[in-house]
Amino acid sequence: MKILRTRKAMIAWRKQLSPKISVGFVPTMGALHDGHLSLVRAAFKQNDKVVVSIFVNPTQFGPHEDFKKYPRPEVKDIGLLRAENVSAVFIPSVEEIYTSKESTMVVPRKSLTSQLEGIFRPGHFEGVATVVLKFFEIVRPDRAYFGEKDFQQLRVIETLVEDLFLPIEIKRCRTLREKSGLALSSRNAYLSSQDRLRAAQIFRTLTTARSVGEAKAKLKRSGFKIQYLEAWEENLRFPSRAKKSRWLIATTFQGVRLIDNLLRD
Ligand code: PAJ
Repeated sequence: MKILRTRKAMIAWRKQLSPKISVGFVPTMGALHDGHLSLVRAAFKQNDKVVVSIFVNPTQFGPHEDFKKYPRPEVKDIGLLRAENVSAVFIPSVEEIYTSKESTMVVPRKSLTSQLEGIFRPGHFEGVATVVLKFFEIVRPDRAYFGEKDFQQLRVIETLVEDLFLPIEIKRCRTLREKSGLALSSRNAYLSSQDRLRAAQIFRTLTTARSVGEAKAKLKRSGFKIQYLEAWEENLRFPSRAKKSRWLIATTFQGVRLIDNLLRD
């Protein structure tokens, strides 16, 4: 497994591959868990080589968010990727990706970012779209893998590729959960094991509540601070009143911000 820390090294590695070789790409911020690894495994099913990036992207964090304290267990992450037989890991420094104090930024469709996460994390999706486009340019993958766990992010990337005519196939991967139902997330590391079990109520409630209102009330009673819990059309363009819709939630629990979503019939 190659460990590449500069754009130059990543581009050189990519260039020496024969054009017949297909490349799958899994962008991450590290602190890897089985959810990330499930993306790697999906990528290996469809590609000859798999590249994973580990980069905690400063432009997608708000000024009061957890950029500084975001977990960075690099040695452990590299071990996990080596065990998956990943072809190359790209771990650039911030300076390697943001080469001057200011960067050209990508503005995703407003119709996708003026709701849900976009309201509570202003500028977040500009940061995500910008860094993902930079990585696509450096890695030049045939296919890239994203989790449904971050459903709005997935829609932002799908429309980025569509609108900018990027020659890359975006592959959706289902959300991996703990036995309790809690969606795996790097931020779960901020919770005690007991609180992780309690946080599983998010998924249980999304699954069983008869209405969004009922789900909200239940979670509030259990100590969750709900930022949003809403039903949307599957493309996230409009709120939905239909039976079949995607329910999306952001909540803080014990001071930790958690998101999840589920397609409800
Ligand atoms: P990160 O939170 O590390 O997630 C990397 C990828 O793993 C994303 O596509 C995310 O949706 C997926 N993922 C996370 N938890 C998952 C789970 N439980 N099941 C399945 N997939 C899961 O998302 C980011 O990083 C960043 O915004 C990034 C796209 C790398 C840009 O900086």
